[in-house]
Amino acid sequence: MKSISFKLAGAFFIFTLFIESILFVTLYSSIVNTRINDEIHALQKRGNSHRDVLEKHFDQRTVEHVALMETEAETNVIITDKNRHILAQSVPGDMTEHLHFEEKNIPRSGTALSSHWNTAKYICAISPIMKDGKTIGYVFMYLETSSIQALVQSITKRFIICFGLTGIFTVIAIFLFSRFLTRPIIMIKETTESIMNGQHDISLDIKRNDELGELAASIENLSSGLNRLQKERNDFLSSVAHELRTPITYIKGYTDIAMRDKLDDAARHQYLSIIKEETDNLARLVDDLFLLTKLKQPSFTIQKKRVHLHTFIQKEVQKSQIAFSEKQIGLSFYIPKNLYVSLDEKRFSQVMTNLLNNARHYSDPDTEVTVTAWKSKDEIIITVADEGCGIPEEERSYIFERFYRIEKSRSRQTGGTGMGLAIVKEMVEHHGGLITVNGRYPKGSEFMIRLPAEK
Ligand SMILES: Nc1ncnc2c1ncn2[C@@H]1O[C@H](COP(=O)(O)OP(=O)(O)OP(=O)(O)O)[C@@H](O)[C@H]1O
Ligand SMILES: [Mg+2]
Repeated sequence: MKSISFKLAGAFFIFTLFIESILFVTLYSSIVNTRINDEIHALQKRGNSHRDVLEKHFDQRTVEHVALMETEAETNVIITDKNRHILAQSVPGDMTEHLHFEEKNIPRSGTALSSHWNTAKYICAISPIMKDGKTIGYVFMYLETSSIQALVQSITKRFIICFGLTGIFTVIAIFLFSRFLTRPIIMIKETTESIMNGQHDISLDIKRNDELGELAASIENLSSGLNRLQKERNDFLSSVAHELRTPITYIKGYTDIAMRDKLDDAARHQYLSIIKEETDNLARLVDDLFLLTKLKQPSFTIQKKRVHLHTFIQKEVQKSQIAFSEKQIGLSFYIPKNLYVSLDEKRFSQVMTNLLNNARHYSDPDTEVTVTAWKSKDEIIITVADEGCGIPEEERSYIFERFYRIEKSRSRQTGGTGMGLAIVKEMVEHHGGLITVNGRYPKGSEFMIRLPAEK
């Protein structure tokens, strides 16, 4: 597998090399062409100035004088009459091939006859000598192409050096750039791999103010979330194991006793009923666990409908009345008759049953439990208040956690499983509400549910 930095650097390199090559070639050919055009123009201009002199004095002396002048220059000249017979030549040599050109109308400003600087030995320009509108001769100017070739060679050499240097700088820049860009990606990849391998306590050292920085922060959050989840799962499993152990110990112990031969029927019956009670507790715990798991799933939904609160609470109170009377605890409710609230009756009935069971369970005889409700702004408030043992202030934030009990010893008399309020909280929140608990004076507790009122 090729690394992302390699791919990125390769793609950038090919792209920049392509662009740079086009720019260099364009610039190179435009500079070379300009230089050659300049040379040809200069040659033409020089020919024109000789022509101007010869137009004034077109005699043998002047012609030879012009040729003589040119012997000292880089350029060469041939002066002919109108039939292109040579009148004078600055250097001896075979430069006569251009004398028999085809073109008819040569402008007075002259023209280039040959500009093949890279193949021919000379470049050549011609200027016609005119008198009274008629051509009486020609000035042919020559420049050896070797000087132009040397010039072009030196330009080419510089361009190659520049191109090479640009290439080296580009490679270095691309290397640094791709490392800067891909280093965090590689770190993130390695980190996610170690998360997958079970290492959840990671921190990415990427402090950047861009999308990669945000991605790194999200991955850190994800990792700490996974960490928390794993810890929660472990805690949960050990709590479940712990909760199951007590009833199973009772069941096992009492089954051993009940199986003894010498036992009379009454005693055996008593032990069997304890076993049944513990089995019921176990079944209830498993049901509660199932319910709580279901409530935690995002797919769990409730079926709300408009409920007359007075009628609803009256039914709930009636259901609990016998159990309250058995323990000689008073149970009353004060609900205005005009209150309606949007509820899933079956689910909310579980909320009320749990709260009333707790109120009864944690109260002494000859005390009073009261259910009230009222409307406040856009909320319906329902309270369940008792005069029982109360909940210490420092424990109040924990009692809604699953398995949390204030009385930690799990005797058969006091022993709930600590699931009731966790279920209540989930149910209330599914109704869009909140539940809190407060102490009462001189003793007791008050659970308060706030539900959104009807619009
Ligand atoms: N009305 C109350 N008065 C005093 N303490 C309470 C009251 N309601 C709850 N508690 C405390 O909060 C703890 C958690 O209550 P919760 O209903 O979740 O569990 P539980 O009653 O122990 O068990 P169960 O799952 O059977 O209901 C209880 O163990 C108890 O200590
Ligand atoms: Mg309870």
